[in-house]
Amino acid sequence: MQQFSRNERRRGKTIGFVPTMGALHQGHLSLISLAKTRANLVVLSIFVNPLQFGKNEDFSKYPRPIEKDTALAENAGVDVLFLPEASDFYAESHQTFVSVEGLTERFEGAIRPGHFRGVSTVVMKLFGTVMPEVAVFGKKDAQQFAVIKRMTEDLNLDIEILGGEIVREPNGLAMSSRNMYLTEESRQQAGVISKAIFNAKHSIDSGERDMEKLLLAVESELKTFSKLTIDYLDIVRLNDFQTPEKLEKGVEYVLLVTVRVEGVRLLDNLFFTA
Ligand code: PAJ
Repeated sequence: MQQFSRNERRRGKTIGFVPTMGALHQGHLSLISLAKTRANLVVLSIFVNPLQFGKNEDFSKYPRPIEKDTALAENAGVDVLFLPEASDFYAESHQTFVSVEGLTERFEGAIRPGHFRGVSTVVMKLFGTVMPEVAVFGKKDAQQFAVIKRMTEDLNLDIEILGGEIVREPNGLAMSSRNMYLTEESRQQAGVISKAIFNAKHSIDSGERDMEKLLLAVESELKTFSKLTIDYLDIVRLNDFQTPEKLEKGVEYVLLVTVRVEGVRLLDNLFFTA
């Protein structure tokens, strides 16, 4: 992979990179399209990274439909599909890990200890292997996006990080490889999450800046679906993932909504500038 990238870069190609864990859906494909607007060679990696899964998480049952994924990637115009094997990618002698600190203390970082250390380490390794100029991540995983941007800046990596908008199912549910774990009925009803988010967007666009009011409105909408429990619901600054006292003009925020339905964790959010 490295040799290929080195040669292509020497020939003047701009390499765009989209890292994934596979089970590709329209969300992933939209990142490929975004990469294609900024690069003339697009590499897609599929690697279910053991390092970012907790002991009781779904590493072994994570879907791996490789033939379907290959066809989707090819159709989407991916130039190179990079499929490392865990046994090759992490040598037995591996001892180096990347940890982004403050940003990972709350939310996904608190609920999934070690998760972001696994993500930043694998992304660093993938960056070192693929050597892209541009890499694309989905805003769906807002905290991951912030962590990767911070790592890239802190470690002076010469890579531009782009964020792709959240792609949704027809009922508004943010697409995720894990939606397939839901029953059809819950998958339909989970549309309420995006409804709550869109209502919040509408309020913000109409000038509402009271955080408590915004969060209460989201909460009461979510509560209309009895099978849903809230993991966390908050508004944080995009740059440090801390909750502000109040919203300040010109600052970028993320409204985070993470819930559980039938044991499946569903993440959604809204990026906005106050
Ligand atoms: P994975 O969950 O496969 O997601 C790959 C990329 O697709 C991530 O950047 C994610 O934010 C983005 N994505 C997922 N659903 C999306 C949606 N509905 N709309 C837009 N983008 C979406 O995230 C990972 O893999 C891993 O942690 C990885 C970065 C590959 C490191 O192992």
